Amino acid sequence: MSHKRNFPLVESTIDEPFNPDADYVRHTRIGVWDFYEDLRHASSVGKSWKIVERFEETLVSLPYVTRTIRTILSLSFPVMALYCMATLVTSLMPAAAIHYSGQLLFVVQEAIESRTVDKSVLFHVLFYRIMCTVVTRFANLAQNWAAIRIAARMRTHYTEHILLAHIRLDLPTYGDPSVRGQLNSVVSSRSNVAWVGIRSIISTISTIIQLVSQVSVLINILKDQPDSILLALVSFADPIWSWFRRSSQWRGGVWAATCRNIDYIRIQGLKALVDGDHYRKELIAGNIEEYVVNQFMAAQGRIGEDGDLSFHEAQQEMHQRRETFSPLSFLHNVLGELPQVVFTLRAVQSPRSIPVSLTSLTIIRQAVGAFTGPLISLLSQTASISDTFASIRQLYEIINIENQVKDGTKPFPENAAKVKSGISIEFRNVSFKYPGVEGDRYAIKDVSFKIDAGQLCVIVGFNGSGKSTILKLLNRLYDPTDGTIFIDGQDIKTLKLADLRRCISVLFQDYTHFPLSIKENIGIGDPLHADDEDRIRQAAELGGAIDIIEGLPEGFDTFLQRPVRDYYSGIPAGNRGQSLFGRSVDFTKVKRRVGKTQQIELSGGQMQKLAVSRTFMRSLGDDSGVGLLLFDEPSASLDPTAEHDLFERLRKLRGSKTMVFSSHRFGQLTKSADLILYMGSSTVLEQGTHTELVKQEGGYAKMYDLQASAFR
Ligand SMILES: Nc1ncnc2c1ncn2[C@@H]1O[C@H](COP(=O)(O)OP(=O)(O)O)[C@@H](O)[C@H]1O
Ligand SMILES: [Mg+2]
Repeated sequence: MSHKRNFPLVESTIDEPFNPDADYVRHTRIGVWDFYEDLRHASSVGKSWKIVERFEETLVSLPYVTRTIRTILSLSFPVMALYCMATLVTSLMPAAAIHYSGQLLFVVQEAIESRTVDKSVLFHVLFYRIMCTVVTRFANLAQNWAAIRIAARMRTHYTEHILLAHIRLDLPTYGDPSVRGQLNSVVSSRSNVAWVGIRSIISTISTIIQLVSQVSVLINILKDQPDSILLALVSFADPIWSWFRRSSQWRGGVWAATCRNIDYIRIQGLKALVDGDHYRKELIAGNIEEYVVNQFMAAQGRIGEDGDLSFHEAQQEMHQRRETFSPLSFLHNVLGELPQVVFTLRAVQSPRSIPVSLTSLTIIRQAVGAFTGPLISLLSQTASISDTFASIRQLYEIINIENQVKDGTKPFPENAAKVKSGISIEFRNVSFKYPGVEGDRYAIKDVSFKIDAGQLCVIVGFNGSGKSTILKLLNRLYDPTDGTIFIDGQDIKTLKLADLRRCISVLFQDYTHFPLSIKENIGIGDPLHADDEDRIRQAAELGGAIDIIEGLPEGFDTFLQRPVRDYYSGIPAGNRGQSLFGRSVDFTKVKRRVGKTQQIELSGGQMQKLAVSRTFMRSLGDDSGVGLLLFDEPSASLDPTAEHDLFERLRKLRGSKTMVFSSHRFGQLTKSADLILYMGSSTVLEQGTHTELVKQEGGYAKMYDLQASAFR
């Protein structure tokens, strides 16, 4: 047997003495998960009496809810009206059903007293009682029909909203886990938050209508029956009580959860390694299947069964523990038994009323049953109205998430014609640390240099010396931690972001291809001319990608990654191997109908040529407005001839624009540079022209000699 280390399920302490807010943070460990709750904000942690706060929350969110309702009405008024009508009918029907059941009760009562049954009344009542069921069926049908249509329209509308909210976020903000949490709460729930919210509000109202109508009908029927009111009260106490209980579970507050268990983390990594199709090549070629399985088993064994909880399971476990130990939930169990007890006691007191009491108990039970069903389903949809309101508010508020890189106000450039002859750049004592990086680990430290308009600057240095970081700062993907960057003599932070970026063409080292067609991938380099096929062709030629593209079966229309995948049926469990009902499985026929599904695989160099083409697309033509070209190791995956060709084309294309180039190679390009920045240890170690730096006989000269001799 493997030795298992069991984790304590709950380990609740107020800890972290080094934390100034220590008293406010509660730490709970469940399985491999550590939860941290900020008790200052833990308003709804198992405290149902904080109704005032929930009410306040609801009030704050109310304007957003009314906005959502207005949106729905404007999107699909007739369908929405139908939905509401149908809902109203379904919520009134149970009361009608009880009414006719009550009529039956009178029939029974009369039958007991007079020993005769009025058949016409009986059939009349029965007919309407059945009609109630039929009408409910049709109302449900209409309700579902309308719901699907409203949902579709709402999804279209809010998908747009969510897209807009996402697209405006800058890199540091988007990388912030708390921002991601906020976005995910709205987006990752595949359902459509706004519609689910509104629907649950409607169904709450419908539940209330149902409750009120049922109760009033019940009172009407039972008012002459001794004990019945008492029975009804007692029977309704339980569902109302559990509604109240459920609406106050632990959800809200400010909390964070993390997993520090290295075995659990590795297990997830190993699983992803097996699942993801982009690891499969290396998984097989590397012959590491056995290793992966062994590591998986060993890690699983060390965690033990008790620790192996997913985040959601752990969260649930925590709620359940708090729930189980609460005296309130015990009370709930007792309440459920009350009606029986009361009925028995009264029956013993006055045996004569038993038949009638029994019939009314049945009706009451029917009412409670009809009432509990929708109530429970309503609860599982959304736990409570205040949460529903809050999630609708969140949906609207993601559009207000503040970016960390603030937009400037000055239009740029002041003189559009001047941009063609380049933009000047100055870094003055610039230091930068990536967000979330602790301590002293600066990516660049105290960097100063000046590039005049129209110059060619080459940044050389080893991996990790900060070359890419400098280019990212020039694009204001991030702002410096210290120091200032000047563009044409102006603080970069004061310039309008969109203007600044319009003047810069950049090819990042870790470029990506978009899940769009090759044509669009190149065309998007210059959004204004994205559908100009001639320009796209020209860019592909300059980027050296035209031969590759024309060699593809679908040419410019090829998708490198298809954003929508095809689906194939699975083989039902129980069928061994590739057979279905004993016949062997053959997908070729359906596959042919589905069409081309083959993934196109390009080499690194080919991919790079596509990326370079996109950059060329942006800088083509004199009307491009680009005055600064940034290339981050654009030739890293190219062979020497392709590299040479690329440089030649770049030189021609550049004209008199400023160009900054980064490279870990020391060669022809550095020789023609107006300025070389030789980087090491996160700073600029040497700067000057090739001749100057070689004369200095420093690090640059040494590296140049080394690499030049390798090619000699
Ligand atoms: N997104 C990031 N988050 C944290 N650190 C980063 C990030 N990108 C780069 N770094 C770190 O910043 C330093 C400089 O990186 P980079 O500018 O990419 O170097 P180079 O381009 O010269 O290879 C490196 O130590 C790297 O680990
Ligand atoms: Mg780099």
